[in-house]
Amino acid sequence: MKIKALATAALFALLAGTSSEAATIKLECFASSGGKAFCNYVKERFERETGNTLETVEFPTSSDERLSLFQQIFASKDGSVVDVFNIDIVWLGLLDKHLADLTDNFKDLEPKIFPAAWQNNVVNGRLKGIPELVDAGVMYYRTDLLEKYGEKPPATWGDMARIAKRIQDSERAAGNTKINGLVFQGKAYEGLTCDALEWVAAYNGGTFVDADGKITVNNPKAAKALDVAASWVGTISPQGVLGYTEEEARAVFQNGDAVFMRNWPYAYLLTQDDTSPVKGKVGIMPLPKGGEDGQNAATLGGWQWGVSNYSQNKNEAFKLVRILVSEEAQKKAFMLMGQSPTLMSLYSDPEILAKSPTLTQMKTVFDSAIARPSTPTKRQFPAVSKAIFNAAYDVLSKRTDGTQAVADLEGKLKRLKGAEWK
Ligand code: GLC
Repeated sequence: MKIKALATAALFALLAGTSSEAATIKLECFASSGGKAFCNYVKERFERETGNTLETVEFPTSSDERLSLFQQIFASKDGSVVDVFNIDIVWLGLLDKHLADLTDNFKDLEPKIFPAAWQNNVVNGRLKGIPELVDAGVMYYRTDLLEKYGEKPPATWGDMARIAKRIQDSERAAGNTKINGLVFQGKAYEGLTCDALEWVAAYNGGTFVDADGKITVNNPKAAKALDVAASWVGTISPQGVLGYTEEEARAVFQNGDAVFMRNWPYAYLLTQDDTSPVKGKVGIMPLPKGGEDGQNAATLGGWQWGVSNYSQNKNEAFKLVRILVSEEAQKKAFMLMGQSPTLMSLYSDPEILAKSPTLTQMKTVFDSAIARPSTPTKRQFPAVSKAIFNAAYDVLSKRTDGTQAVADLEGKLKRLKGAEWK
């Protein structure tokens, strides 16, 4: 048995034209069932095409928790834990020196990938990640419920709250006791920084820190946006929203228990699964404006494939990245996990469009999405984001109000900045 396995591996290696010494490559994988199915597909393909072995490793799901783990692993230059992993769009500057240089091996892909997503991976002129999925915040709503009550998709956050309350109260009175108006990401983690940026920017309150590194958060519009969000908790949003990440929000919405949900585009496909109680009843729209003179603000998200600079097998890891960024793999990632592709060609793929008719609309949302201040705040971004999500959390949980929170946050950010962001 063992000999047979060895012989098979040797044969694969020969067929693949590699040396007979097969490598083991470790790929960061996703915990969801769709994610597991995707990783199994990648494993089968990588092992067949290269004669190497693929092992999968799982990390925590929350972006900020993952980042601190990677920082620990990389601080000790440990190449044994992971070779290929997911980089959040806000980490490129932070992880730069720990990331293998992909420029020479992957520059041919540039014309095929969304330019903005590609550019975000170029750090000091070198390509450090290959765009895996593009993301921007969107609003989901129940088409059947809005229709039942003769309501249109709301233009402003104020409209949203009114409609959410009206439908929630009427439905509850009619016996649909579990229904909520709105679910979103209210837990104190990176996701809340994304939601809070959307509220603040929607009310023209800026982006906490502007593109030049100036701290702008202490203004009445930002304070108002946070107060408005706090007014939802316990009225149109359950108290439990203070513990929700993306997946908790999706679970409630997908179960039919919310009228509106703020989430990323991935959730659409999952809500349309055959087993989903809301299949055929879900609409997607831009996040509402903060009042008539406000704007539709979506936070820019997205993930990239990166190779650890401490990988013992960079060339084999590059082969894995080639597979991951292929049309076939991105299509699978979309079909299994709802991930919006970074290859522009897939936005006219008939199978993809049939599954998600709204994906082409998403292209405009991606183009106008607002970045978190990760570039101007440099290495301080994780601390900056933490200060932002803690401030937003304190307002949502009524420990303080918007005005006090933005003043305190300004103080914290000033201390983090010192003379200049480093
Ligand atoms: C999504 C976004 C990512 C963001 C995260 C926050 O995964 O793509 O950029 O940091 O959500 O939870």
